[in-house]
Amino acid sequence: MGNFVNIGLIGYGFMGRAHSNAYLQACKFFPHTIEPRLRVVCGRDQKKLDDFAENWGWEETENDWHRVIERPDIDIIDICVPNDMHKEIAVAAAEAGKMIICEKPLAKDATEARIMLEAVRENGKPNMVCFNYRRVPAVALAKRIIDEGRLGRIFHYRAKYLQDWTINSNLPMGGSQWRLDAQAAGSGVTGDLLSHSIDLALWLVGRIQRLTAMKKTFVNNRPLERDPSVLSRVEIDDACAFLAGFENGAMGTFESTRFARGRKNQNAFELNGEFGSIAFDFEDMNFLEYYDYRADSSYRGFTKIQVWDGDKHPYMGHWWVPGCGLGYEHTFIHAMSDFLYGLEQDRKLCPDFEDAYQTQLVCDAVLASAASGEWSNLQVLVPSN
Ligand SMILES: NC(=O)c1ccc[n+]([C@@H]2O[C@H](COP(=O)([O-])OP(=O)(O)OC[C@H]3O[C@@H](n4cnc5c(N)ncnc54)[C@H](O)[C@@H]3O)[C@@H](O)[C@H]2O)c1
Repeated sequence: MGNFVNIGLIGYGFMGRAHSNAYLQACKFFPHTIEPRLRVVCGRDQKKLDDFAENWGWEETENDWHRVIERPDIDIIDICVPNDMHKEIAVAAAEAGKMIICEKPLAKDATEARIMLEAVRENGKPNMVCFNYRRVPAVALAKRIIDEGRLGRIFHYRAKYLQDWTINSNLPMGGSQWRLDAQAAGSGVTGDLLSHSIDLALWLVGRIQRLTAMKKTFVNNRPLERDPSVLSRVEIDDACAFLAGFENGAMGTFESTRFARGRKNQNAFELNGEFGSIAFDFEDMNFLEYYDYRADSSYRGFTKIQVWDGDKHPYMGHWWVPGCGLGYEHTFIHAMSDFLYGLEQDRKLCPDFEDAYQTQLVCDAVLASAASGEWSNLQVLVPSN
């Protein structure tokens, strides 16, 4: 080893923890010639920041993200703050010549995302957006099955992303509950959850041509976190569903909600093709269901592939013995490891700002269609350059 990339992490909440852990583990399980160095973490509450830095081994702290970007010793800016801060930080980081790792969704909307995309095109440095579900071994296996042509022509992509944590109408909005505040989040489940399903759809199936959507806000007013005596209007979508036509002729159905009692993080999809089907559910993430129509008909049926049964499964050769499954945190370890491989091998990393911009265009089209009741045509939205 001996080669380091210095990380400047902005935000030390949920994703700050997931990314810190990933940087620490990536080189312990995957062979790398470049090692991430946890150089500086940025946040506003110094006591919490000190505790965080000590726990995860960050060398220094900063309270103002501008100062992190100004530091010449920082190579990568890692953006783990609410969505409304992504654009300003990413553009400043790009202008300062940094590499960027940004949490999803890329931005609050495609207008912001476009500005960010232009900034990283100008800077020309590696960048990545953390659509981490691509790095679930079972999902990477699904991609391989499709690319090997085992499903043949794809007819259907059926996605659902369900949670249940906002059903309580007394749950406050704003502050730490920034996901319920449209000013901070941009949108509700569309940007937060459907963006993951859309990223997987674009990766596994291809570009979306047109769509029609419906969204719903079930709780219209919520108390503010900073003053619970004040009820404020909720402007995010609590649930959203859409029908889509892919460029290759496949049909897509997408559903997302935070009002599905009992569902905690059910990010699931099924693909049906000419020669077979595959189905995945993150709540059972070590398995991939596969139906192979061309198998011997005496034994044909949905097979629940245990994605831990040998070195041939994506990522698994670097982990435990067969039967010992992986969890949520491994998706981020894989993402950071893949980022390092991209640097070491000088190859494009996916999903990057280009890919995430495409996802953002679809999110905007979904929200536009839900508002107007009309079909949205993506072809007119996708830029030619
Ligand atoms: N890939 C995924 O599956 C996934 C999962 C969760 C969140 N996310 C994304 O990650 C991002 C962060 O979400 P989270 O769940 O970690 O949020 P969080 O609320 O847990 O953490 C946000 C952090 O940002 C900090 N912050 C806010 N304003 C700041 C400022 N001005 N300067 C410095 N720090 C500031 C907060 O103090 C907190 O540490 C969001 O874009 C979210 O959509 C992605």
